[in-house]
Amino acid sequence: MRRRGKTITRRDKTRTKNELAQPRSPSLHARSKGNALRINQILSLAGLTSRRKADEWIKSGRVAVNGRLVTELGTRAVWGFDSIEVDGAEIPKPSARIYLVLNKPFGYVCSLSDPEGRRLVTDLLKGVTQRVYPVGRLDFDTLGLLLFTNDGECAHRLTHPSYRVPRTYKVTVAGKITDEAISLLKRGVQLEDGPTGLSKTTLISRSEKQSIIRMTITQGKSRQVRRMLEAVGYRAVHLMRTGFGKLSLGDLRVGEYRHLEKEEIESLRKLVGLV
Ligand code: URA
Repeated sequence: MRRRGKTITRRDKTRTKNELAQPRSPSLHARSKGNALRINQILSLAGLTSRRKADEWIKSGRVAVNGRLVTELGTRAVWGFDSIEVDGAEIPKPSARIYLVLNKPFGYVCSLSDPEGRRLVTDLLKGVTQRVYPVGRLDFDTLGLLLFTNDGECAHRLTHPSYRVPRTYKVTVAGKITDEAISLLKRGVQLEDGPTGLSKTTLISRSEKQSIIRMTITQGKSRQVRRMLEAVGYRAVHLMRTGFGKLSLGDLRVGEYRHLEKEEIESLRKLVGLV
């Protein structure tokens, strides 16, 4: 195997599987808890192949990190810092723009600082070295999908009402919501800072004690869902954002984040006329 002027030596090839999985460069391990991603994820984010195929490449000895063959699935590296090669050719550096989606837990502030010293959503972005900003806000007690990026123009457009980017919420409401209230929510309501647009509202379940509805709105007024419910006589007791544009939470666990895939980034940018 050739790597830019160097050849992986017989010594490398005769190292045991364990040795190969632990490159001698201390950087990989010293930093693995921080910025490192699994190599299959890096190869997929770089648009080179799927994660499954990347695992096959790794197993068949086509991937090297910092000049050492990697054959252990799950090995991590820092994309853009460690040198990652496939068949001897260095993979492209990560784009300067990054896009992440976090499943925000309850009890975190959507801000870069908080005078009251509460936990910040950015505390959850362990290992992200670039400065990224939340796209819009979720309340302290709202959970769910929160996008982050350092792509200012895209963030601006995604939050601008003229682009009408759909945001979907699953809302638990105290009491038994009536069909009439649902119709009012669909038509949009008058808030003190102006009318809301239409919403797509569907009933998931209802009992005397509580109701669960799904609402999709295309504006991002402050506390919009809670205020819309108050305007029709109800109180949201649990609010979770499940969708933003075409993004959904999928199986992302609460408190975890992931990098968007290339197609997801393209679809987001397309939605706001940037592709
Ligand atoms: N609407 C709200 O009321 N709160 C949120 O956090 C998001 C949308």
